[in-house]
Amino acid sequence: MNLLIFGPPGAGKGTQSIHVAKKFDIRHISTGDLFRENIKNGTTLGKEAQGYMNRGELVPDELTIRMLESALNDNEKSGFILDGFPRTVAQAEALQRLLELRHQKLDKVLVLKVENDVIVKRLSGRRVCQKCGEVYHMSSRPTQVSGICDKCGSDQLTRRSDDEPAVILKRLETFWAQTAPVKAFYEKLGLVREINGDQQEQGVLASIESELAR
Ligand code: AP5
Repeated sequence: MNLLIFGPPGAGKGTQSIHVAKKFDIRHISTGDLFRENIKNGTTLGKEAQGYMNRGELVPDELTIRMLESALNDNEKSGFILDGFPRTVAQAEALQRLLELRHQKLDKVLVLKVENDVIVKRLSGRRVCQKCGEVYHMSSRPTQVSGICDKCGSDQLTRRSDDEPAVILKRLETFWAQTAPVKAFYEKLGLVREINGDQQEQGVLASIESELAR
């Protein structure tokens, strides 16, 4: 099964992709995570991407498509869920070409619907473990012991640099200007399935599972 999860920043794409990938034994490919990994490792790609990400802008298509292509080549499992890609119509077109070359196709595009005020609360309360990458939220997904990662025990829980209030607003602006048209691209292909993302985490997952069972 090849899926794409789509929605504004903070809609819960990463959270739900992890659940779906585990349940269906498919690979979670997140372009945001791949860029952050490159930044952490000090690669040339990471250095090029960092400025765009810190400003809440999109990394140029050419760099992003090349990175995605190499992630698709590395896919050791039989399916994937793409999270954060495509973010422009040019990226969506490139993805179609890459999949055709591999005799693959997308089965469904899950569109998470969440209002702006909820998004701002989610992103401003998000905390990420610097050691293992586990994602928390100060009220909806707190750690068991305050300030300590449940998964690895690290005390390095921080706010993502692009979760500062001014950058959140810029990311939302970028989403509506450059990324929202991607939904229409997939509507024309009949692949879009809308999911109410404004429910508790497990409720969103249940809606996705019932959509995938259809
Ligand atoms: P990326 O990392 O993809 O960021 P994003 O799309 O802005 O999405 P987020 O990771 O912020 O949110 P999410 O929807 O995954 O929400 P999450 O599950 O974490 O990209 C970062 C940057 O990289 C971009 O700005 C761009 O610069 C660059 N980039 C990446 N891909 C690119 C591309 N294709 N082209 C060009 N540039 C690219 O949830 C958020 C919080 O809410 C968490 O704390 C979580 O615990 C909580 N939460 C989740 N679900 C719920 C729920 N149901 N109820 C309550 N809380 C919830």
